[in-house]
Amino acid sequence: MVVKTPPMGWNSWNTFGPNINDELIRTTADAMVENGLLEAGYNYLVIDDCWSLKERDGEGKLVPDPVKFPHGMKDVADYVHSKGLKFGMYSCAGTRTCADYPGSFDHEYVDAKTFAEWGVDFLKYDFCYRPNFVPGHLLYKKMGTALANSGRDILFSACSWGHQETHKWIKTTGAHMWRSTGDIVDSWASIRDLTMHQINIWDYNGAGCFNDMDMLVVGMNGKGNVGLTGCTFEEYKTHFSVWAMFNSPLMIGCDVRNMTDETKNILLNKDVIAINQDPACRQAYLVEADNWWSGRVYMVAKQLDNGDVAIGAFNLGDNEEWPNFQLDSMGLGYATGKKLVCKELWTGETCEAVDVMRFPKLPAHGCRLFRCKVVDA
Ligand code: GLA
Repeated sequence: MVVKTPPMGWNSWNTFGPNINDELIRTTADAMVENGLLEAGYNYLVIDDCWSLKERDGEGKLVPDPVKFPHGMKDVADYVHSKGLKFGMYSCAGTRTCADYPGSFDHEYVDAKTFAEWGVDFLKYDFCYRPNFVPGHLLYKKMGTALANSGRDILFSACSWGHQETHKWIKTTGAHMWRSTGDIVDSWASIRDLTMHQINIWDYNGAGCFNDMDMLVVGMNGKGNVGLTGCTFEEYKTHFSVWAMFNSPLMIGCDVRNMTDETKNILLNKDVIAINQDPACRQAYLVEADNWWSGRVYMVAKQLDNGDVAIGAFNLGDNEEWPNFQLDSMGLGYATGKKLVCKELWTGETCEAVDVMRFPKLPAHGCRLFRCKVVDA
């Protein structure tokens, strides 16, 4: 299975934690179709931790909790598939999952077969309760090989939080995406810290195996399992823009059955999604800053498949900023005879830049995200 662009979908953990059940999954599937999320590209519906009984059955198989999932998992998967969505589940490389349910250590092949029989299309694979004597790369190779031989195409979503220098070995394991960070929570500080964490690992992102910055908190507004202070609309926009620019998988974490219009405006912004899903999958890079650089604004660019460039300015600081930068640092200096004609993807406003790109006021925690054409000056 080759995964060409960052996976998109929904995951139960951020909002629902252990409070998952058959009805939640079915109504979420309905909502993903009715709200236009599926049409926008969010095609994986993933059940996270806490779906099974605390122990395996007599044959060593995982057992769905009969109270939460009275019709079993195949039935849930069939329903999700009937909506045109793909179905994801969760397990762990250790002996127990992070929430203390049975993990897949030493049961990789039986579990991969079980998931395939249930019709699972995506497996998130966590890193808790792992035996100290087995290095992470072997744990993920084991499950990667088991999934690849399960008889079904199953997207392998590794979740080792960047531990043991995950970036250096994850592409050898069969994983299609890999968590580069600890867990997100619904606060600006968490979004800022996860963003800053990316700077030294951008090179390890790309088609086939995407750097997963964790599930989105857009639209949680402080509610749910990892709900904390919540964020402002501006902060959620910055969050979504960063994840899009950095080629992170876009896995929604809010309750999609109850989204506000603001939340929908962010999650369904087709232009921003197109930056994330650009077929070339080139990594973003930090544009060389000149004298405005303060370490608080990240100015990031990314070359797109059709020759356009995306440019993002992300103000991670707590004050307004007026950033600008020389286009030279993108290879587009004055001597090229070219200029940029840009559309801002949140407001729709347009602007041009020759030699230097100047930004009007950028509010604290705010962003601007442009798609620019390169034309004659
Ligand atoms: C870990 C993962 C989270 C979530 C929980 C479930 O913390 O990083 O994304 O899956 O486990 O217990």
